[in-house]
Amino acid sequence: MRTLIEALKTHNYRYYVLDNPILEDSEYDQLRRSLLELEEAYPDLIQPDSPINQVGDIPLSAFTQVTHDIPMLSLGNVFDYDDLHGFMRRVNDRLSDAQQNPEYEMELKLDGLAVSLKYENGHYAQAVTRGDGQTGEDITQNAKTIRNLPLYLRDAKDIDLLEVRGEVLMPKAGFERLNRLAEDKGEKTFANPRNAAAGSLRQLDPAIAASRPLAFYAYSVNQGLPDSFDKIDTQSAALAWLGDLGFTVSAVEVIANPRAAQTYYESMIETRDDLPFEIDGMVIKVNSLSLQQQLGFLSREPRWATAYKFPAETVMTRLQAIEWQVGRTGQITPVGKLEPVKVGGVTVSNVTLHNFGEIERLDVRAGDMVSVHRAGDVIPKISRVWHDQRLETSEPVALPSTCPVCESPVILPEDEALARCSGGLFCPAQQTEALIHFVSRRAMDIDGLGERWLISFFKQGLVKTVADIYDLHQHTEEMITFEKLGEKSVQNIIEAIEASKKTTLARFIYALGIRGVGEGTAQNFAQQFGDLDSLMAADMDALIATPDVGTITAELAHEFFRAPHNIEVINSLIEAGVHWDKVEQKSSSDLPLDGQTWVITGALSSMARDEAKAKLQALGAKVSGSISAKTTALLAGEKAGSKMAKAEKLGVKVVGEDEFLGLVRE
Ligand code: IVH
Repeated sequence: MRTLIEALKTHNYRYYVLDNPILEDSEYDQLRRSLLELEEAYPDLIQPDSPINQVGDIPLSAFTQVTHDIPMLSLGNVFDYDDLHGFMRRVNDRLSDAQQNPEYEMELKLDGLAVSLKYENGHYAQAVTRGDGQTGEDITQNAKTIRNLPLYLRDAKDIDLLEVRGEVLMPKAGFERLNRLAEDKGEKTFANPRNAAAGSLRQLDPAIAASRPLAFYAYSVNQGLPDSFDKIDTQSAALAWLGDLGFTVSAVEVIANPRAAQTYYESMIETRDDLPFEIDGMVIKVNSLSLQQQLGFLSREPRWATAYKFPAETVMTRLQAIEWQVGRTGQITPVGKLEPVKVGGVTVSNVTLHNFGEIERLDVRAGDMVSVHRAGDVIPKISRVWHDQRLETSEPVALPSTCPVCESPVILPEDEALARCSGGLFCPAQQTEALIHFVSRRAMDIDGLGERWLISFFKQGLVKTVADIYDLHQHTEEMITFEKLGEKSVQNIIEAIEASKKTTLARFIYALGIRGVGEGTAQNFAQQFGDLDSLMAADMDALIATPDVGTITAELAHEFFRAPHNIEVINSLIEAGVHWDKVEQKSSSDLPLDGQTWVITGALSSMARDEAKAKLQALGAKVSGSISAKTTALLAGEKAGSKMAKAEKLGVKVVGEDEFLGLVRE
């Protein structure tokens, strides 16, 4: 029976706390059944900590109020390193010289509900919520069903009364499962794991609480710490002792100074997302229990501990306006203008709204209260719109019918989510965006000619196209007259422009700002064609044969190099002296399919066509869009049509998917 109990406890812990079970449900049930059978056969041997016991009793009609022996207080907060220093200084101020700069201990600030547990002679006796701090609700039946909560502590049977406090929480994975289940049944979902844990403990029927994935993490011993154990004189030792008794305790770090506290705090900001449950900060406590006693409390907070909160990741604010921005390639994107707020430690005043569809999905309007979420470094997003607080005067958002900058009609291509200005390079917004892109670090890298000056020069008519940048040296007198732009800065700009003339073919292609051609594609084009003239002259087939270039990008590039305006700009740039070293094309002669040209047709069952194309290219083959006598092989999937007929007619070898897979696997 003991072996089964220990095994069940281990598996409960893995399942409910770590969310990492190693048994199948049926295997677990079998262990449980075996224990139950033994308990039925030998009732007088039933162990007090048997998990079979761990189900609640009958439903209650109401919770009883219980007054705490010792009030359950809350914690003060600090939000940054200065605050933390201040907290430690206030601790020092109350200590004698010899006691100054005490050791501290740091714990996770678990985002759940504070609960006080009582054990009488080692037996679980009572669980009470924090309530108002003085009086809470008796949730003994519900808490009993928490699988990692020990019901019997053998090593504490000599302690008449042990009071342990800690946090009840719902691990993230369990929370998501619970919500999915609720969703499937069309029931209400919980907003976050904390609410779900609270809702579960507030159930009058313990059977419901029992079905919820809850866990208990102990963080303090409030009564019954054995005096005889003089080695338990610190918070960290007290938690270690609770761990020995069978409680789950959160990670603990003992630190000597504010720097070390800061380092640990920052490392936890990095790893918090990897934890199985949510935390909203760290708790920092004076480690010595006698110093804690000496420091005491100030109104409702201990002087010896504080919460070092993480920057909030979600905050509420008002969406003041929705503006439309025109990008380099004419895409018109909505940008939300917020009443500025701090999220995750930085002030934000803009949020991305992606596209018109996103506005419809969120059903958001200018003037709405919104929750703004920022995780990691990503640009903040609206996670929720508070429709119940909507202003009566607000109106639904409409997609503008004309470009907000040049008033050309807006087009909404069927296959694209984004609306576009049809003005092309006639649109000043597209012109300036093209300039900004051209000088950017990863393109021509013209340091010093920042966005601000570029826009001013554009407005003054000094630059219109990217080629005009290389004529700026003829306008230095005018440039100097610009506010805040002294002779020295102008000199720097001119030098940076001069220096940018030596570049690489890949950077140059990227700088041209061809739609769909990012840095990677620009590099591939440079590798594939080796020089600009070949790229400009390339037909669709040749363009598509470039690694990672699909039909759409090939078409956009093909079109770009056919527009007289673009050719003119490119020629001016070259005439102005923009140049690059010859591209060293990597030799592919060692690759097995070097010199071969393949065509793909039909549907492949094992991968997408792009993937097959990439695999062929990796082996050295060129992949073309159409069959000719020069084609080496046709890779034909299901429902291959006219290309198949043509291959047969031209005597081009046809390769089936299986044969192809064998080839790429070799
Ligand atoms: S110690 C005198 N340790 O935070 C109060 N509290 O904001 C001592 N909490 O009500 C509390 N994790 O529910 C402590 N490791 C931890 C904690 C923790 C979460 C909660 C607790 C408390 C609230 C205060």
